[in-house]
Amino acid sequence: MDKNEHIPYGKQYIDDDDLKAVNRVLQADFLTTGPTVSEFEQKLCDLTGASYAVAISNGTAALHAACYAAGIKKGDEVITTPMTFAASANCILYCGGTPVFADIDPETWNIDPQEIKKRITKKTKAVIVVDFTGQVVEMDRIRVICKKHHLTLIEDAAHSIGSKYKKVSVGNLADMTTFSFHPVKTITCGEGGAILTNNKELYSKCLLFRSHTITRDAELLTDNPYYGYNEQIDLGYNYRLTDIQAALGLSQLNKLDLFIKRRKEIVQKYDRAFEQMPELILQKEIPESDSARHLYIIRLNPKYTIVDRSVFMDELSKLNIGTQVHYMPVYYHPYYQKLGYPRGLCPKAEALYEEIVSIPLYYSMSDEDVEHVISSIKKVLQFS
Ligand SMILES: Cc1ncc(COP(=O)(O)O)c(C=O)c1O
Repeated sequence: MDKNEHIPYGKQYIDDDDLKAVNRVLQADFLTTGPTVSEFEQKLCDLTGASYAVAISNGTAALHAACYAAGIKKGDEVITTPMTFAASANCILYCGGTPVFADIDPETWNIDPQEIKKRITKKTKAVIVVDFTGQVVEMDRIRVICKKHHLTLIEDAAHSIGSKYKKVSVGNLADMTTFSFHPVKTITCGEGGAILTNNKELYSKCLLFRSHTITRDAELLTDNPYYGYNEQIDLGYNYRLTDIQAALGLSQLNKLDLFIKRRKEIVQKYDRAFEQMPELILQKEIPESDSARHLYIIRLNPKYTIVDRSVFMDELSKLNIGTQVHYMPVYYHPYYQKLGYPRGLCPKAEALYEEIVSIPLYYSMSDEDVEHVISSIKKVLQFS
């Protein structure tokens, strides 16, 4: 590692195969949604075991499509976690629904099934869970709750492509699963996303929604006066993924196992270094979940360190180490405050937020980079 080289908290990895794949599409007939998007969708199904996949412009659009397909509308409540990126709740608002935040488990940092139960009312229509950092939520318990109350279960798997729960791949666990292929995620399309499902009706709805709900399907048309006639049957969007992006995604999927293997190696090094440090608390793992390790988060233990989080992050930045905070509870954002969500709604998520820092984790991190991060964290915590 060059001493002055910045180590970001996350970063994409692009190789010659990726460049060639994109170049091939640029010289072919289709630039926007065409055969490469279909190939990408098929590969996502092969990877996860899901029956259907819809590739879409980004992970937020995937969540929007899933909420649409679930029939979320004005007056409906949807339960989700506050410990996530705003998109997991924004998608509910896009459909006119009301996000209801259920608190997290203070050890796994994932949504607490017991808290989901407490928030269910007659208006509850769906639950959006988030596999925080890549660790799958307590799926068995959550599925039982959803089944009992007839709720659609949407899994926001922006962090967890390649993760498994009881050996079953993410993508094949909920009614709908959404992925993001933003550059900091495990694989990237530049921008991109997907919805996976085993339900044909939900699949068809997501597919229509991706392209304005404009269709040529004779069964859905009110008229069919000429060849190529089409109709818009509901309100949809242009959320199409391009073949250019899909080519990158396909090529990246070939490296998914490699990416995850390296991420696991780095996590093992971090775990070994930090487990015995009283200054730090680590995310508890549930044995059912095999995480693809999107993020590594350390929690500063106020009982054993007086180092302030912002000072900690500043000191690491001086040592060329990038950090981030994942996440501020969604309802702390000024927009949600304006909507009237009070602070104090989810005390465990709020307490976690004050003490967490995400540290660098990505495929191309060298062992030297990892050692530099570990020794710097020790130095800042133990000698400040
Ligand atoms: C948990 C979670 N959900 C949804 C999204 C949205 O994905 P995208 O940025 O592809 O729209 C992200 C991405 O940051 C995310 O981390």
